[in-house]
Amino acid sequence: MIRGVGRSDEPPPSFSAVEVVTAKRDCRELTAAQIDWVVSAYARGDVADEQMSALAMAILLNGMDAAETARWTQAMIDSGEVLDFGDVGRPLVDKHSTGGVGDKITLPLAPLVAACGAAVPQLSGRGLGHTGGTLDKLESIPGWRASLDADEITAQLADVGAVICATTPTLAPADRKLYALRDVTGTVESVPLIASSIMSKKLAEGTGGLVLDVKVGSGAFMKTRARAGELAEAMTAIGAAHGLPTTALLTDMSVPLGRCVGNALEVSESVEVLRGGGPRDVVELTVALAREMLALAGITGVDPAAVLASGEAYPVWERMIAAQGGDPSAPLPVAGHVETVTADRSGVFAGADAFAVGIAAWRLGAGRARKEDPVQAAAGIRLLAAPGDEIRPGTPLLELHTDTPERLPDARRALSGAALLVTADPPEDRELVLDVRRAG
Ligand code: URA
Repeated sequence: MIRGVGRSDEPPPSFSAVEVVTAKRDCRELTAAQIDWVVSAYARGDVADEQMSALAMAILLNGMDAAETARWTQAMIDSGEVLDFGDVGRPLVDKHSTGGVGDKITLPLAPLVAACGAAVPQLSGRGLGHTGGTLDKLESIPGWRASLDADEITAQLADVGAVICATTPTLAPADRKLYALRDVTGTVESVPLIASSIMSKKLAEGTGGLVLDVKVGSGAFMKTRARAGELAEAMTAIGAAHGLPTTALLTDMSVPLGRCVGNALEVSESVEVLRGGGPRDVVELTVALAREMLALAGITGVDPAAVLASGEAYPVWERMIAAQGGDPSAPLPVAGHVETVTADRSGVFAGADAFAVGIAAWRLGAGRARKEDPVQAAAGIRLLAAPGDEIRPGTPLLELHTDTPERLPDARRALSGAALLVTADPPEDRELVLDVRRAG
């Protein structure tokens, strides 16, 4: 547990920003008091952006140890409110994914875990860049509303057991400000800063257990297993320091998850999974994460694989969507233009590179370049060929969906070169869950 976090009546010590920056520049450990001061002074506007960007760069270059990172996380939590859902009658457990292409897992996972007896408060964000955001996907359902207040979240957790909604601006506001600054100063890729950013929001949300899906591969934030492992260790250590049971799975993101990438396309694939069907990899990962979540929630004797296969999670999905104004039976938006990409040679299809597919879907209109950009609900990619399929010139490999056909050439360009891999021999079976890290 974090010690010495409670506030005393003593006025907190004050520092100069330059003193804190030079300490980290010279590879010294920051004290708890320095961390508390600099994070809260930055949130109030008393530390300037240029000073905080110098500190973020010093942290990126010289690191922070586990104690500094845990304290930094606490200081970001303390910059805002901590939610308390009280007793909703079931154990609370949540999951966070570091983001991947076709990663729609939250959509079937939250109702599945609720159908197994836990309560899942999923406070999510919108997508930026080549990975999609959970809220963007759900907003393709007619009528669905992302913003809920704390009372609505609590009532839905008690009634349905699952909520997926927008995070509130009052949760870890220092992180919101710092993340925007890191984005424009080349300081996103620091493990302690990423870990504290993610964990501050999850800890402020007041969950009782947390499962992290740390993606590894071309379509992920972390391109190598070593870097993903480092991030998983840093996040589980923060969980342990704050008394939050935390488990991290390292999972493959070298090819997209499932067959569909794009907002409405991913909702329809999630519904297939909730009805007991859907692509094998989406089912496998949903079940693997559900097992870990149920273990943290202390729920035994329920097999999430059987619950998912039986379709029992689907009525929970319907209630979850309807509770937020959505019509789960309404037709989803369909793109105005669909173009098929075919193979230009013979061989065995070995898969589509996740990063290339993510960029292509983004160019078709499924994602945004700036946070104020709109997204097209129907834009995206449907993969037609599966790894291992024999192909010939003209065999359909994938479909490009968009409402703005002038975007098609850019999307096709993103998928040229080695993006669609054709080999002479069948590819080896891909391992989806690469590793598991638990705190302690
Ligand atoms: N996601 C976050 O929430 N924070 C980071 O720093 C990186 C990814």
